[in-house]
Amino acid sequence: MEKVVSLARRRGFVFPSSELYGGLGSSYDYGHYGVLLKDNVKARWLEAMVRERDDIVALDSSIILHPKIWEASGHVSGFTDPLVDCRTCKKRFRADQLAESECGRKPSKHPGETPDCDLTEPRQFNLMFRTRVGAVEETGVDVYLRPETAQGIFVNFKNVAQLARRKPPFGIAQVGKAFRNEITPGNFIFRTLEFEMMELEYFVPPADSARWHEYWVAERLAWHVRYGVRDENLRARAHEADELSHYSSATSDIEYRYPMGWSELEGIANRGDFDLTQHTEASGTKLEWVDAGTGERFVPHVIEPSLGLNRSLLTFLIDAYDEEVVAERDRTVLRLHPRLAPVTTAVLPLITKDAAMVEKAQALRDELRRHLSVEYDDSGQIGRRYRRQDEIGTPWALTVDEQTLSDDTVTLRDRDTLAQERIPIGGALTALLERLAAPWSPPPRAG
Ligand code: GAP
Repeated sequence: MEKVVSLARRRGFVFPSSELYGGLGSSYDYGHYGVLLKDNVKARWLEAMVRERDDIVALDSSIILHPKIWEASGHVSGFTDPLVDCRTCKKRFRADQLAESECGRKPSKHPGETPDCDLTEPRQFNLMFRTRVGAVEETGVDVYLRPETAQGIFVNFKNVAQLARRKPPFGIAQVGKAFRNEITPGNFIFRTLEFEMMELEYFVPPADSARWHEYWVAERLAWHVRYGVRDENLRARAHEADELSHYSSATSDIEYRYPMGWSELEGIANRGDFDLTQHTEASGTKLEWVDAGTGERFVPHVIEPSLGLNRSLLTFLIDAYDEEVVAERDRTVLRLHPRLAPVTTAVLPLITKDAAMVEKAQALRDELRRHLSVEYDDSGQIGRRYRRQDEIGTPWALTVDEQTLSDDTVTLRDRDTLAQERIPIGGALTALLERLAAPWSPPPRAG
């Protein structure tokens, strides 16, 4: 993990937030390459969930919702973690994660391990951030920052089902920020105070819910593999009865083999009719599906694949990270799927003082950037420039050299094989688009 954290920081993917003021635990900011990578992960998710299907529509609901929604959903009473305080070091820990936490006075020990530790009994602590809506403090209303995007989907069920003219099985997908007042033992962006969620609520006839749950576990596993996560680092694990959330009748986690061990990457829950029933009772509006032709009516059951965008990005970074020695020199390379990579191709003039070469390279960059994410780099030796692109996961580089000036060809270098081939400059866009569209799987790790 340290190597990925260090690369993420060095190359400006992700860095700790509020550093100027000493930092704020479990908060991170995303720099240029981090933003581009995050956008690509989101785009691939939306593509698979909405664009490539006829049965799922998109939604963007508010972050601040009516506070009664969180009472009906069970979050006000039940969305809690057990916490303990240490009266000696004044730090707060999750009672169920003491073994992974560091003692506030002796980081080599866990809380409770030194004779000085004085821990309170565990107390339930609600994870929702509370704030106030209203211009005047006294007349304002307490509201919450949403801890999941799902409730925004359930309360819009009636609108969307009518507008989309869909019959179950059909789904509503949403990507957006969520907020949780988490106490975390570290692990970089694995668990943070604010993060983006990519959630699908898939509404099905009640009798079919177990089948659709299985279907979505398989679909979601395949998505992670499609974008390059190695099969052997993924597994699906069904929750034991005592692990299930208050709303779930069955949940399977897709787990990844993180440096700290197998942990949840994505959760796929069978929420039954819990949410639609709760909101029907609390709002007085029936949330059910009614067939306008036959009059048939039922409350659909819901299958929910829910993935943290930031956790997905972390997983892609970890799985893509590789080191190798090439021509007696160390090379760090992110073997990201080409459709996730922040930059698709670098354009590099070999001799940066050669005006004709620079002109050709800049013209090529200008043409390509209308279709692809392109980075033009004219600083330093060509070998160093290649290494810089390897580190941010750029799958291809096009080099303009002396030969280009005589025959209008460029060198196309492949990040993974290091193969270089000459292609006509006029065919560069087509060559890259063809490569982008081809299926891709990660090469064996070198390091
Ligand atoms: N609506 C279902 C739900 O909220 P969850 O298991 O609490 O379920 C779903 O969260 C996913 O969101 C997790 O599998 C993880 O990928 C991501 N996630 C949850 N809490 C997170 C946090 N504090 N920071 C980053 N990602 C988080």
